[in-house]
Amino acid sequence: MEEVLAEGAALAGAPYAPAPQLLDLRPASDLYDEVDWHDARAVRASIDDVLDGRRRRGYVPHLSASLLQGDRRRPGADEPATVQVGGSLVVADAEEVASPVSGVVEARGGAGMPLVLRHAVEGQEFWTCWWGLDDTPPVAATVPAGAPLGRAAASEEKDPLGSCVQVQVHRTARMATWPPPRVVPPSARQVWSHLSPDPARLLGFTESPAAVPTIDDVVSVRRRHIARSQRNYYRAPMNLVRGRDVWFHDEDGLAYLDSLNNVTHVGHAEPRVTAAATRQMRKLNTNSRFVYPQIASYVQKLVATLPDPLEVVFLVCSGSEANDLALRIARQVTGRQHIVNIDGAYHGNTGVVTGISPNRYKGPGGAGAPATTHEVVIPDRYRSTYGYDDADAGVKYARDAAAVIERITADGRPRPPSSPSP
Ligand SMILES: Cc1ncc(COP(=O)(O)O)c(C=O)c1O
Repeated sequence: MEEVLAEGAALAGAPYAPAPQLLDLRPASDLYDEVDWHDARAVRASIDDVLDGRRRRGYVPHLSASLLQGDRRRPGADEPATVQVGGSLVVADAEEVASPVSGVVEARGGAGMPLVLRHAVEGQEFWTCWWGLDDTPPVAATVPAGAPLGRAAASEEKDPLGSCVQVQVHRTARMATWPPPRVVPPSARQVWSHLSPDPARLLGFTESPAAVPTIDDVVSVRRRHIARSQRNYYRAPMNLVRGRDVWFHDEDGLAYLDSLNNVTHVGHAEPRVTAAATRQMRKLNTNSRFVYPQIASYVQKLVATLPDPLEVVFLVCSGSEANDLALRIARQVTGRQHIVNIDGAYHGNTGVVTGISPNRYKGPGGAGAPATTHEVVIPDRYRSTYGYDDADAGVKYARDAAAVIERITADGRPRPPSSPSP
């Protein structure tokens, strides 16, 4: 049957002219870069741009995930159905859609049910399901190849794709008239690739959408080319292709609330930030030793947010550099070398801050705390020494820290000028 379908275009003699063009709705698609995909009108305008307005003729491939179905995940909710079964022809309202091969109508469709046709080509029987058509032929009618199957149902404002006809191929009448689901969860994609053959060729669509690297591809490149110590989060990582606001999105259109990432302080893909960065990178992108107006206006704005007497900024590129510099300044100014840190902390990856990061010096390959580093326990009322049942937890954590400082000074090291009295 796959061979019959592969010859579909030839059988039907180009069923749709011009052939539909790829409409990539996968989460990584550029289509979503500029729009909020919860806004149906904005998505539709974007799709009209891609499809070149007047002659709307797009094709959304079989088993592709999209952001249009996926909703934000909630604890305990089922895996969302983000993967469409079958291909979708995105057409103009009321456009006539022809049958690519001859068939006999088994169910007329309507009210959310598909039009179902039985086909017999070169001794092979198969069935097609069509959603989104009006004016379909009656049951038992024979529809020759190229004859109309109906008109694309008029779209509503809430339909981000506009008029859209979804087409599935099935191996049995029972599957086709069940009716089969139109979208399924990503974990069911493999099963549906066997249950429902790809209708692309039958519909005259021959483009191959660019492959998005799978999680296995990405992990294996990381393993081979990224330093082993630069580890990734999670034993079973997600293949993240997009971030927006407080959400990450993976290649299957599943959303993950981002409560961990520390890079995007104002949310993912904040439009004002991306616009400003793009504007500036088009003009000038260089280091702080060159002189240019933006560096002055930026520090002025920054300093205006700081309390007196803070008015001098040292610009760096990362948290590691900032902490490294802060530590070096503190040591230089006070003439003291010893520091107190909190167990479990991570302060960055330069040589200096690795020495005050228990997370590093106690981790694999770590050489333990340098003689100048002294830990206090993490004041965490869930997991540490004093819990929520202890009303004096705060005072006790402070007292323990003061004891560590006391021990350092008792060892003959000078007390820092601002340290609390024991
Ligand atoms: C608390 C903390 N300090 C410092 C750093 C180091 O920052 P960067 O990765 O920008 O060097 C990080 C990075 O994760 C951090 O979480």
